[in-house]
Amino acid sequence: MSEYTEKYGQWSVVCGCSQGIGKAMATEVARRGMNVVLTARSKDKLDALSVELEKTYHVQTKVVPMDLTDPKRVEILREATKDLDVGMLLYNAAVAYVRGFLDGDMDYYKYMLNLNCIGMLELTYYYAERFVRQRRGALVLVGSNAGYLSMPYLTMYSATKGFVLMFASSLYTEMKPYNVDVVYPIISNTETPGMHDLFHGGAIERMVWQDLNEVVNDTFSALGKTPTIITNKKMRRSLNFLRTVTDLNGTIEQTHKNGIKMLFADDLPKQYPSEGI
Ligand SMILES: NC(=O)c1ccc[n+]([C@@H]2O[C@H](COP(=O)([O-])OP(=O)(O)OC[C@H]3O[C@@H](n4cnc5c(N)ncnc54)[C@H](OP(=O)(O)O)[C@@H]3O)[C@@H](O)[C@H]2O)c1
Repeated sequence: MSEYTEKYGQWSVVCGCSQGIGKAMATEVARRGMNVVLTARSKDKLDALSVELEKTYHVQTKVVPMDLTDPKRVEILREATKDLDVGMLLYNAAVAYVRGFLDGDMDYYKYMLNLNCIGMLELTYYYAERFVRQRRGALVLVGSNAGYLSMPYLTMYSATKGFVLMFASSLYTEMKPYNVDVVYPIISNTETPGMHDLFHGGAIERMVWQDLNEVVNDTFSALGKTPTIITNKKMRRSLNFLRTVTDLNGTIEQTHKNGIKMLFADDLPKQYPSEGI
């Protein structure tokens, strides 16, 4: 038993973990003793990660190669995890698109919306219900500085991550009575294969990279404590003036409490059945 398996459950489902930040997050979850369901499109990379995690951390893994824009995504993961004690969903998969808004392609914008937001929404809806019934669980919904501060020429990406920010922050308070933790890490430039696909030449040379380990460690140190965390200490210091949203001083929790009191007085809606699954 590790702290995480005791607190959340035996298994985590990590969406988009064949490389980059998702791979590092899956590795950290395994290091913390959880078994991992590994999902992304690249089966070969997932198989390699599976071998590495099982050998290094003596955990179990299950590889579920899939496109997370597949309309059957919930069905596929429901079937793959129906007999597992799942206690964590980590939704990391996302794509970005760097160009003027009107130079972008509408079909691709819809694809981004589907992967970055609707996939996250549908899988959170499914697993959050399981977690609420279990009265334990964790939702790690990977975010971005662009979803927090906004970013021109990444307008649609920024908007999709902004959606996840408000979703996660609100859900943080709503899930608390059910012992389900939610966190949205606000991540800045981190060197990954995806970043090298997205940016080239001068842009990539001018990037100041965050340390991948710090991104991961900050994310898990915030889980259960604050709805969001600006990863990287330096970045946190420079954006401290925006702390209402990052909840460094508890403002969000107080605002949420006031809002809930106004909406329901002391009679919170009982939306979830209390029996087991
Ligand atoms: N790196 C940064 O600087 C940075 C900054 C802020 C926020 N973020 C956020 O951090 C997360 C990871 O970024 P990253 O740089 O590590 O990205 P990455 O290197 O491009 O990796 C993305 C992961 O998502 C998977 N994925 C992409 N499309 C998918 C699909 N349709 N179905 C299933 N899986 C899919 C990829 O696997 P397959 O290709 O095998 O499917 C891969 O494992 C994203 O949410 C991103 O928005 C990153």
